[in-house]
Amino acid sequence: MVRASVDTGVVRENLERIREWLPRRLSILLVVKEDAYGHGLLPVARAAQGIADWFGVAYLGEARALRRAGFAQPIFIMTPPVGHPLVQAIREGYHLPVGDSGMIPELEAAALRAGRRALVHIEVDTGMGRFGLLPEEAEGALQRIDRNRIEIAGVYSHLSSANGCSAEDLHFTRAQVWWFRKVLEEWERRGIEIPWRHLANSAAVLAFDEATAAPLNMVRVGTAAYGYPEGPVPPPVELVPAAQVWTEVAAVRDLPRRWPIGYGRGYVTPDARKVAILAAGYGDGLRPELKRVVIHDQVAELLGKLGMDSVAADVSGIERVSRGDRALLFGPGVASHQGWICPVLVPVLLSSHRRWVRS
Ligand SMILES: Cc1ncc(COP(=O)(O)O)c(C=O)c1O
Repeated sequence: MVRASVDTGVVRENLERIREWLPRRLSILLVVKEDAYGHGLLPVARAAQGIADWFGVAYLGEARALRRAGFAQPIFIMTPPVGHPLVQAIREGYHLPVGDSGMIPELEAAALRAGRRALVHIEVDTGMGRFGLLPEEAEGALQRIDRNRIEIAGVYSHLSSANGCSAEDLHFTRAQVWWFRKVLEEWERRGIEIPWRHLANSAAVLAFDEATAAPLNMVRVGTAAYGYPEGPVPPPVELVPAAQVWTEVAAVRDLPRRWPIGYGRGYVTPDARKVAILAAGYGDGLRPELKRVVIHDQVAELLGKLGMDSVAADVSGIERVSRGDRALLFGPGVASHQGWICPVLVPVLLSSHRRWVRS
């Protein structure tokens, strides 16, 4: 069983530090998709009141949940809705991305049906290769848009590698930033004015000043607010994980030398080992990339293949481990053992898994 607890007060403190550190010119769009990365959509939105100027979600349902709960901030639905939800999203006044150039006539028709102009942000694809228009497509599309049906509220791009640490990642991110800024410069030169201009995700906010420099005036922050700094440099502000995720030790075994562990004998003990069997596996949302946990404030390596409901951890060097002890997967206690947390796991691990018990 995996247990999770969330302190939304910590989300607020993280956001306060990010707000203080960023120039006032920049509005903050807090990304709260996927139940606020598993932290709870409405509790997080409440904790962010007065700091988050915008909310970013993936689906219409999430936008509606925020509105129903009384949040009046602009909401950007970052995954382009298809079909009737597109009409509904326009009618309800949410901001929408332009996911491809074929979407423009569709948006115009949907706006007509909705009886209201669509509020859109043109996504310029500078290297994410998912949604958006290629830079050379974007300006032509801009000219074709029927402004009676579509209001261009924003222009943005999404960075694919800002959280990466390799030289190629740095180079690629700088190239994406450069390209997007070039597009903005060119549009400005031609007198095209677009109110919201945004590029930086959390990692870029923390590590790439040029991704937030004017004329950019908004950032889209997710992981940093939840306390998981990503990126090539240590974060310039303190960020504390808002969630703790743990499981418990279900058995403690003394295994002899050359004893296999798990399906396929994925690990064989090189010598006698004390092993804790943890009561969590891929059925609980754990991923094979998870290599270690923290027990009694010490790192324990996971051994062998991850099972559906259990996995083994080497506790040979950890004293007095017994059934029921906590094995931390993520959380403030784990952050001090940085270096091995793979941040990309966080959204997956924190996604509101049906088997997790919240406390
Ligand atoms: C378009 C877009 N912008 C910003 C973010 C936030 O990214 P991060 O959680 O790395 O800050 C996301 C999250 O996936 C996104 O899809």
